[in-house]
Amino acid sequence: MYTQSFSVPDDTAGNTSGPKGVPAAASAAEAELQAAFDARIDQDGRIEPRDWMPAAYRKTLVRQISQHAHSEIVGMLPEGNWISRAPSLKRKAILIAKVQDEGGHGLYLYSAAETLGTSRAEMLEGLHSGKAKYSSIFNYPTLNWADMGVIGWLVDGAAIMNQIPLCRCSYGPYARAMVRVCKEESFHQRQGYEALLVLMQGTQAQREMVQDAVNRYWWKCLAMFGPPDADSPNSQQGMRWGIKRFTNDDLRQKFIDATVPQARVLGVTLPDPELKWNEERGHYDHGPIDWDEFWQVVNGHGPMNKERLATRVKAHEQGAWVREAAAAHAAKQQQRQLKEAA
Ligand SMILES: [Fe+2]
Ligand SMILES: [Fe+2]
Repeated sequence: MYTQSFSVPDDTAGNTSGPKGVPAAASAAEAELQAAFDARIDQDGRIEPRDWMPAAYRKTLVRQISQHAHSEIVGMLPEGNWISRAPSLKRKAILIAKVQDEGGHGLYLYSAAETLGTSRAEMLEGLHSGKAKYSSIFNYPTLNWADMGVIGWLVDGAAIMNQIPLCRCSYGPYARAMVRVCKEESFHQRQGYEALLVLMQGTQAQREMVQDAVNRYWWKCLAMFGPPDADSPNSQQGMRWGIKRFTNDDLRQKFIDATVPQARVLGVTLPDPELKWNEERGHYDHGPIDWDEFWQVVNGHGPMNKERLATRVKAHEQGAWVREAAAAHAAKQQQRQLKEAA
């Protein structure tokens, strides 16, 4: 899917020049490049890996895409825990497929980020050392089977709201990765909702289990959209660059407006006494989000941060032999090709 990612050299030194090493341009030449870049953004065009781009645009994308990739990979863990405890063969098959999809999303995204000149090893080092951020939602435990349904319905549902506009992101490889990711996220959301519908038609204990999971996840899902616009100084720049298409608050509102009727059909209560339709605004109003908790968790102090990271580091270490074998195989193949070409 991303052939261009294989033709761009890695740049482990964190060089901020173009992937082909745009020479240190005289300021007039640079101004011309900047003007061409701005014009393309204004026309809603795409920026591709070999194109000139401002260093800050590149840096922002590397940060955003790698954080997104980390979120997909760490996001496999809370649900992976339940594969061996799924209540039926059908649910187990669906859950395995979903968790594998998330792994695939991580791989597309690392590839997309690599086209910007940052190596995968460098990005993984950021994750494993605790420097890089990932979605705070995955630092909470999954306590019962209904959590699997609620994660699909609400967490993947929130991810779709965030990711559909990214299909129109100005950076080509990221936008293209998102098209396929969004199709799979849509399946994730539906399977979660369907699993909950079945539970809600079950016993009283099953219905209570669903309500408990909704109570624990609702506010954390609203926080997934990021801090309020007033506290997101980088948001405007992201919109100017065509990376972001909607503000955090707009996306959060879209998610709430879409989810309230779904909760009604399901027969669960969303745990917010202030949640009510505002005729004037044409949207649902909601109560205050606990941003202190959000920042605590983002900064490494959530209930599962340590465990999630330790699991990732262990998996990476145990996978060393696979990477070595793959590299040895690739080197052998390359040698054979060179011999044949000679
Ligand atoms: Fe995903
Ligand atoms: Fe997903």
